[in-house]
Amino acid sequence: MEKIKVAVIGCGSIAQKRHLPEYEANPQVEIAAVCDIKEERAIEMAHKYKAEPFTSYKEILNNKNIDAISVCLPNYLHAPVTIDSLNAGKHVLCEKPMAVSIEEAKTMNHSARVNNKKLMIAHNQRFVSSHKRAKQLLGSGELGKVYSFRTTFGHRGPEKWSIDGSNSWFFRKEEAFVGAMGDLGVHKADLIRYLLGEVSEVGAFVETTAKENTAVDDNAVCIFKMESGVVGTLTASWSYVSENDNSTVIYCEKGIIQLENDPDYSLKVHYQSGEKAHFELDKIQSNDDKGPTNTHVIDHFVESIVLDTVPLITGEEGMKSLQVILSALDSSETKKITSIPKEPAHISK
Ligand SMILES: NC(=O)c1ccc[n+]([C@@H]2O[C@H](COP(=O)([O-])OP(=O)(O)OC[C@H]3O[C@@H](n4cnc5c(N)ncnc54)[C@H](O)[C@@H]3O)[C@@H](O)[C@H]2O)c1
Repeated sequence: MEKIKVAVIGCGSIAQKRHLPEYEANPQVEIAAVCDIKEERAIEMAHKYKAEPFTSYKEILNNKNIDAISVCLPNYLHAPVTIDSLNAGKHVLCEKPMAVSIEEAKTMNHSARVNNKKLMIAHNQRFVSSHKRAKQLLGSGELGKVYSFRTTFGHRGPEKWSIDGSNSWFFRKEEAFVGAMGDLGVHKADLIRYLLGEVSEVGAFVETTAKENTAVDDNAVCIFKMESGVVGTLTASWSYVSENDNSTVIYCEKGIIQLENDPDYSLKVHYQSGEKAHFELDKIQSNDDKGPTNTHVIDHFVESIVLDTVPLITGEEGMKSLQVILSALDSSETKKITSIPKEPAHISK
C-alpha cells in the first residue's frame, strides 16, 4: 500500500516531541514536508526526518502528493491553516484548542464536511490507558451512579516547554487567546465530557495570579453541572511550581475512581465495601518526559485515513470542548453562572 504523505506545520515542541517521532514510527506514513516560519527550525527537522523544508505553509498546499497535515502552530493560526488545508484537499490533525472562537470552529467543521476530509483534534487525554479503563468501568455500571468529580491539570507553565521559552506566543494574548485554560483546561473539559457526558452549566474564576508580563490566565477554578445533574470541579493552572498534577477523581455510589493520582498506580478504585483495586497501566505523558512516548493520537489519525473511519475526536467534538472553556471565560467575566448552549454558539453579552 502506498504510504500516507504527511506535512507537519510548525516545528516547535509538540511537533518535535510528539507528531514527528510518532509519524516516523508509523509504517504507513512518510513525512514529506515540514514547515516553520523560522527557517533554521524547518531545515533542522527536514534534515532529521528526510523531508522537504518550507517557511510558508501555502507552498505545501499546492503539492498534490501531500495527503495530510498536522497543524502544530500557535492557537490563533489553527483555524486559518486548517481551513486552507481542508480546502486544498488535505486531511487535518489540528492541535488544541481547535480555534479561538466558535465561529472559527464551525468554519473548520464546514470545510471538513464540504471537502469530505478528516478533521481530528489532538485531545490525547482520551487515549490515556487509565482514562480508557475508567470509561469502560463507568459504562459497565459496576460503580453505580456518579455523584461528583474533580479534575485538574497544572504545571509550572510553558516557559520550559515552548521552543521559544519565556518569549513564547503562549504568553501573548493576541496569539494564544487563552492561557492555562486553553493549554490545559480544554484537555480536562474534553476528558470529563468523554467520561461523563455534556456539561450544561459552568461557574468559573479564570485569573492571572502567578505570571508577570502576560495578560492570559494562569489559574482557573471552575464548577460544572453536567446534563446528568452531576456536579464537579475543573482546575487549570500554570502555577504548580514543583510538580505536575494531571489527576481526576470520580466519586460514585459504590466507590471512588482515582486517575493519575498516584505515581505508582494510574488507576485506583476504592470500593465502598473496603476492597481496593490498583492498576499500573501505561504512564500518562508529561512535559518532562525524556524518552519517546506514544500519545496514540497520530496512529489514530492515520488509521482513520487508511480505514476511512470517523476519528474519535472530530472537529465537532473539539468544538464542544472549546465551548466549555469559552463558557467558563464568559462566567468569569460576567460573574454569573453561564449555561452552555446545546449547539455550540457565540455567547453574546
Ligand atoms: N496535545 C498536547 O498535549 C499539547 C501540548 C503542548 C502544546 N500543544 C499545542 O500545540 C500547538 C503548538 O504548541 P508548541 O508547544 O509546539 O509551541 P512552540 O512555541 O514550541 O512552537 C510553535 C512553533 O510554531 C512556529 N510558527 C509560528 N508561527 C508560524 C507560522 N506562521 N508558520 C509556520 N510556523 C510558525 C514557531 O516558530 C514555533 O517553532 C499549540 O496549539 C499548543 O496548544 C498541545
